[in-house]
Amino acid sequence: MSTEFAVVRSGRPVGAEERAAILAAPGFGQYFTDHMASATWTVDGGWAGHRVGPLEPFQLHPSAAVLHYAQEIFEGLKAYRHGDGSVWLFRPEANARRFAQSARRLDLPVLPEEDFIASCATLVEVDEPWVPVPAGEESLYLRPFMFASEAFLGVRSAARVEYAVIASPAGPYFESGVTGVTLWVSSTYARASEGGTGAAKCGGNYAGSLAAQREAAEHGCDQVLYLDSAGKGNLEESGTMNLLLITSDGHLVTPELGTILAGVTRDTLLTLADQHGLTPIERSVNIDELRTGVADGTFVEAFAAGTAAVVTPITGFKGEARQGDTGHAGDTGHAGHAGDSARYYELTVGDGTPGRKTVELREHVLDIQYGRTEDPHGWLHRV
Ligand code: COI
Repeated sequence: MSTEFAVVRSGRPVGAEERAAILAAPGFGQYFTDHMASATWTVDGGWAGHRVGPLEPFQLHPSAAVLHYAQEIFEGLKAYRHGDGSVWLFRPEANARRFAQSARRLDLPVLPEEDFIASCATLVEVDEPWVPVPAGEESLYLRPFMFASEAFLGVRSAARVEYAVIASPAGPYFESGVTGVTLWVSSTYARASEGGTGAAKCGGNYAGSLAAQREAAEHGCDQVLYLDSAGKGNLEESGTMNLLLITSDGHLVTPELGTILAGVTRDTLLTLADQHGLTPIERSVNIDELRTGVADGTFVEAFAAGTAAVVTPITGFKGEARQGDTGHAGDTGHAGHAGDSARYYELTVGDGTPGRKTVELREHVLDIQYGRTEDPHGWLHRV
């Protein structure tokens, strides 16, 4: 049994006309609905104050622990409007489970999974007019989060914690989402190490990714791709998305869990793989294997997956060549050549356009989410 989130409606909701204009071009993460769900945890009283009320700022003491030590976690999931007007969440129990795992890693209190789902469902019910009628891949993005709000500067787990869910109408995360993105393979920055917080969805992982993301942009790439922190050269994830590769002999390969985020979309794709003639394999992939495999046609497609980004084709990789690196057969870059260009290698995946299976998988996931095809796994949760 979940705890009920008592509803207090906003006295000043956004007008229907303004809301319609926002829903016509929502972008990503720019606009917010009229309400938010919240609850507070204290070490003495446990969870209390579950409610859905007007969207409003938090009042925090400047010493609130989250502002200093980043004791914070979050989730991302979406509500989809189906053709008959009904509204559905996609795999909210998977997000609830991961939220609990992140809480344990950050030593935050665990919110019961059924309360996580109830908070999301009640918020979507109250803000139902904000769920877009999809013209493309619009949805209502939900952002549950939890943070240490206790006013105290000592380094220990907070005795007071806030939980909240906000909602934001969303279009595609990347403008170039369907045409494909390029990834910069960073040799400067690592995302996570064994025993660290890499598997948790905590704000610190994303703060640490910003310099790496800037480095990627400076090299003309859309996103960063991390290698492991131990210097083995194994691919990890792109920071906001998991990485998946398709081989010429029909394998869907993705780095194994451990220091990467256990993506819900990643898991969805591994489950759907066999319907597309693909065998799912979770294993280490080394950067040398990627370079050789893309060049010789072993890796025929690549894509990134996440709730916000859905399935985003990867059309190329770029990175810094190592000393003495003479390039891999078929690299389209300049590793091994004289001059400044010797510093980099570039790889084009396939013919540089989104792969056929990638597009198929993307459509399959979206078709389930929007109720256009069967949902044999029971992933949809009606609001
Ligand atoms: C998501 O895909 O939901 C994410 O959390 C990635 C990003 C927007 C932070």
